[in-house]
Amino acid sequence: MPSFHDLLVEQADNIATITINRPDKLNALNRSVLSELISLIDALETAEGDARPRVVILTGAGDKAFVAGADIAEMSKMTAAEAKAFSDAGHAATQALEAAPFAVIAAVNGFALGGGCELALASDFIYASEKARFGQPEVNLGLMPGFGGTQRLARRVGLGHARELIYSGEPLSAERALAIGLVNEVVPHEKLLERVKELAKKIASKAPLAIAAAKRVMARGFDQDLIGACELEATAFASLFGSEDQREGTAAFLEKRKVVFRGR
Ligand code: COA
Repeated sequence: MPSFHDLLVEQADNIATITINRPDKLNALNRSVLSELISLIDALETAEGDARPRVVILTGAGDKAFVAGADIAEMSKMTAAEAKAFSDAGHAATQALEAAPFAVIAAVNGFALGGGCELALASDFIYASEKARFGQPEVNLGLMPGFGGTQRLARRVGLGHARELIYSGEPLSAERALAIGLVNEVVPHEKLLERVKELAKKIASKAPLAIAAAKRVMARGFDQDLIGACELEATAFASLFGSEDQREGTAAFLEKRKVVFRGR
C-alpha cells in the first residue's frame, strides 16, 4: 500500500476506513487529495487477499467536517483550463468509488458541502451524525457543482430537491437530509463510526462477488431503459453461477451450516 499525505487508511476485518485528513482546512479537497484518493482506490481494488477490502468506509478527520468542499483557496487561482482539469479529477475520484467492486459507505461526521456532498453521493449510501450538514453552496462563490452534484444529487433525491439545494446554496440538517432520502440513517455523533463499522461487518460477511455484481448492475442499469437494465441483471446473475461462493452459499443453506464466503 503506498503512503499518503492527506489520507489515513485503516484496514481490519476486510473493511478499509479512509479518512480525509486535513482537519485544519475542514478536509477540503485540493488537487493533491483527489489524486491520492484515485491512487488509493486503485491500490485497494488491485490488492491481493485480505488487503483487498469488501467494504470501504469514507469519513473526515476531526470533529467538525466530513469534507467542507473543494479547496476554495486553490480554486481562487485557477484558470478555466485548470478548473476543467480539477473537475475532471473530481469526476475520476467519484467515478472510481462508484465503479469499485466493494461497497462504499460515507460516514458523514459534520459538514458535507460542495465537493464533500458530491463525494458522499458517489458512495453507495450515506450514514450521518446528528451534527452533519449537507449542501451545495457553490452559487455563493459564483460557481456551480463540478464533481457530479448536478447529476448525482437529482438521482438520489429527485430533481425538485436537487434544484432547490443547488440554486439556494442553503445547507440541510441531518434530519432534513434523512427526510428527503439523501441519507439512510442518522446516528448520535459519538456512535457514528461504531454504527457504520457494525453495518460494514455485516456487508463484509456476505458474498463479495454478488455484491460487486449487484453494485455494477444497479449503477449501469439506473440510466438505461428497464428492459435493457433487466438484461444486464440477467447476465450478471448468471455470471455468479459456478462461482465457489455460489456453490458454498447454496450448499451451506441446504446442509444447515454456517456459510463462509471467500470472494471466489
Ligand atoms: N476550502 C478551503 N478552505 C476551507 C474550506 C474550503 N472549502 N472550508 C473551510 N476551509 C478552511 C477555512 O478557510 C479555515 O481556514 P483558516 O483557519 O486557515 O482560515 C478553516 O478551514 C476552518 O474554517 P472556518 O470557516 O473558520 O470554520 P467555521 O466553523 O467558521 O465555518 C463552514 C465552517 C463550513 C461553514 C465554512 O468553513 C465554509 O463555509 N466553508 C466553505 C464551504 C463551501 O463553500 N464549500 C463549497 C466549496 S465549492
